[in-house]
Amino acid sequence: METVVSGIRPTGELHLGNYFGAVKNFVKMQHESNCYFFIADYHSLTTHPTPGDLQGNVKRVLINYLAAGLDPEVCTLYIQSDVPEVTELYLLLNMNAYMGELQRVSSFKEKARKQPDNINAGLLTYPTLMAADILLHKALKVPVGKDQEQHLEMTRTFANRFNRMYNVEFFPEPLAYNFGSQLVKIPGLDGSGKMGKSEGEGNAIFLSDSTESIRKKMMKAVTDSGPTVENQEKPDAIQNLFTLMQVVSDPETYTFFDEQYNGCKIRYGDLKKQLAVDMDRFVAPLRERIEALENDNDYLRKVMRQGAEKARESAIKTVSEARHIIGFRSY
Ligand code: TYM
Repeated sequence: METVVSGIRPTGELHLGNYFGAVKNFVKMQHESNCYFFIADYHSLTTHPTPGDLQGNVKRVLINYLAAGLDPEVCTLYIQSDVPEVTELYLLLNMNAYMGELQRVSSFKEKARKQPDNINAGLLTYPTLMAADILLHKALKVPVGKDQEQHLEMTRTFANRFNRMYNVEFFPEPLAYNFGSQLVKIPGLDGSGKMGKSEGEGNAIFLSDSTESIRKKMMKAVTDSGPTVENQEKPDAIQNLFTLMQVVSDPETYTFFDEQYNGCKIRYGDLKKQLAVDMDRFVAPLRERIEALENDNDYLRKVMRQGAEKARESAIKTVSEARHIIGFRSY
């Protein structure tokens, strides 16, 4: 059976971008492949070196994963730092990762711009740690959103380089994967780029948001003064709202508002109200399951322990083989 690996950083609650870009695919893939899904807590230190509540943040993501439908009896669900073998593979891969190629990665350039006082080595080598996560289990498919495409390309580079340098066929080439074929980018509510926790307050709808909070955020979403010519192209901020509608609303609702827009009859207040209702309808069962899991610490601990054990089995095997290939031998 094909192996699948993916992870999410514990920098806050999961939002609809995480869900539609990644978790929705995790839920489907767990029944078809040998899946490893983890919480990338080491990675979160690249931007949050002194996290206020790392344990709490990890717990939130674990609960979100379970609420979304990941079944720890079906897939392997673990915390990155519970599988320390990944750090050894990271070290080995770093020996063959070059400064120039790491500096050219767009996520590095963007983060370096955002945090000029903390351009740390972990930030630069973020893609090698991510490659280690994936290669640790020799994954072939990696369900991620569009923003991770370049990291996957780097993973393939590192895998191929390792094979070439040591003259082996050890690591397979993993591909970024989405069930609906194309990788997706879920837009945020601020009229510009993608939905994300770091893009500012109110830009993201979280899986645990209340009805009221969803309504408030939707009402503040950026729009414009409306179309003046029939069938005119939608500017980014408006297109974003339609894209969100495409994922949470019925097709008839989408068509209705699309026709209203094309006929210059649209009222953005109505569109936002409808989106808030549809988002709430989507999020409600998730929110309920999140609340139900919040105090079940015994269960959560059991899930983490069991996941770490399963993940370490495959990690130990890969790392000991990689050590052997490079030439490490004990006397
Ligand atoms: P992270 O934590 O930023 O996001 C987790 C997943 O959610 C997807 N995502 C989105 N997809 C579509 N639209 C959006 N607005 C949106 N926002 C987030 C991301 O593409 C990602 O799939 N580097 C990774 C974490 C990671 C990882 C890995 C992933 C570490 N090691 C190994 C896969 C395999 C990250 O920062 O994702």
